[in-house]
Amino acid sequence: MNLLLSLIHDLTIMKVNVVLFISSIAFVSSLGTTTPNYWVLRNRILQDEEVKSIGGDLPFEGEEFIANERLMFHKKTEISKAFLNPDEFLPARNFLEAFGDIEKSKVFQIIQKLPKGAVLHVHHKAMVHADWIYNATFRDNLYVCENNGKLLLHFFRTPPRSCNWHLLEDLRKNRNVAQSINDRISKAMTMIVENPQEVYSHIDVGWNKFEEIFDFVTPVIGYRPVAEDHFYQGLKESYDDNVLYLEIKTGIPKLYDLDGRQYNDHEVVDIFEKVTQRFKKDHPDFIGAKLIYTKGRMLSDAKVHGYIDKVVELKRDFPDFIAGFDLAGQEDKGKALRSWAERLNKLKTQMNFFFHAGETNWYGTSTDENLIDAVLLNTKRIGHGYAILKHQNVLEYVKRNKIAIELCPISNQVLGLVKDLRNHPGSVLFAEGVPVVVSNDDPGLWGSRALSYDFYEAFMGMMSSNADIRALKQLAINSIIYSSLGKNEIADALKIWRSKWIDFVNDLKNEPN
Ligand SMILES: *[C@@H]1O[C@H](CO)[C@@H](O)[C@H](O)[C@H]1NC(C)=O
Ligand SMILES: [Zn+2]
Repeated sequence: MNLLLSLIHDLTIMKVNVVLFISSIAFVSSLGTTTPNYWVLRNRILQDEEVKSIGGDLPFEGEEFIANERLMFHKKTEISKAFLNPDEFLPARNFLEAFGDIEKSKVFQIIQKLPKGAVLHVHHKAMVHADWIYNATFRDNLYVCENNGKLLLHFFRTPPRSCNWHLLEDLRKNRNVAQSINDRISKAMTMIVENPQEVYSHIDVGWNKFEEIFDFVTPVIGYRPVAEDHFYQGLKESYDDNVLYLEIKTGIPKLYDLDGRQYNDHEVVDIFEKVTQRFKKDHPDFIGAKLIYTKGRMLSDAKVHGYIDKVVELKRDFPDFIAGFDLAGQEDKGKALRSWAERLNKLKTQMNFFFHAGETNWYGTSTDENLIDAVLLNTKRIGHGYAILKHQNVLEYVKRNKIAIELCPISNQVLGLVKDLRNHPGSVLFAEGVPVVVSNDDPGLWGSRALSYDFYEAFMGMMSSNADIRALKQLAINSIIYSSLGKNEIADALKIWRSKWIDFVNDLKNEPN
């Protein structure tokens, strides 16, 4: 089990051999007897570390070796520049002010073209870039009002008297009003600010803003025509970023139309499924999407029990489209998973769970212990698992049982768990070959788009500077094999992915440096 111990044991045997070997040749004196052993040992340790780390045991196939040299040239250049100027290192900077510079990185541009497989942890209301949602505020029948200093938006045919509603289109006819209201609207849709470290001074400030954005955009993207386009756009942003498949976490929003009609959960799931089918028809090489029914963990027990009943119903009616169940929200403020353990335990044989767990820095708290409940409840994957290194039993268990940890680097940084992504615990998971996928959580809220930004942060900031194209390949493969697609679907998906991968490798190989 312990490599170092067994190597040192080997070394004592080797020493004898080496001594024999060396004494049989002429230049004994110039080497000394312990020197070769030391370097042999050192190399073996490095080699062992490489093989264990993500992608480290994959052989180079086809043209991958040459393509890799292109990629690594840029990676090494970028890292060695930052090594001399540490404040330039992008994963060490807050994403909210670094994303523009990330877009200029050659490594990032290569990653954009790389077939990344699947997004397995993204929240429906945050999967689309804020610019798109902002544009949706130019549609007809959108009203605005101000309530306790907060702006509200809602589509109506005729607005109710509940608030002093104004047709947004009318307000925008006045240039000055338009400018100030547009500014307020766009700021209310994103976490992006110029000085994120000061504005989001601690974890709760970030989370409060985060929740406020959801409240603000919910009525905009809940209007049925927008909701359909929004879902389609979410798939499109991923597809355009070379993602083939998604598992989308959603509490199933209450969609509405102009006549005040509200759609129930079944109707909404049906709408999302039809949009997915339409998207697949428009993009035949797209594999698809499934929903993970995900509710807030701040709710009463009765409510959560109701949601558990609901997911059983939804799974029965949409067996291929509903992947399973999860609970989300700021974990430190929510209830512990063990609150519903008995109920969930009974369900675990018939329902896949994808629990957010251990998204915390608070060692030994209930939030931290959620990791233990998650695996006891047979979770298929763990959302974040940020605290997992503190729980060796859980770590061993997920390795042995191939439970993937869904790493969402940018989310953890923006929401205040870690400042410099080199300190992210995912580094150790990459080093140890723990099953992991990289995902994006809520890209639309922080100026990210689809998956490439998180891949970039993981590849540059969290993996070894020696981690190469095989690590990215393994991440893509992981995202497919740890998905909730069926066995045959996984085989088909891997086939589609592989042909894209080969094209990508050939293009990269032929690219001039
Ligand atoms: C928003 O609308 C503007 C103006 O029509 C357009 O140029 C831009 O591409 C749109 N942005 C998105 C993300 O759809
Ligand atoms: Zn999440």
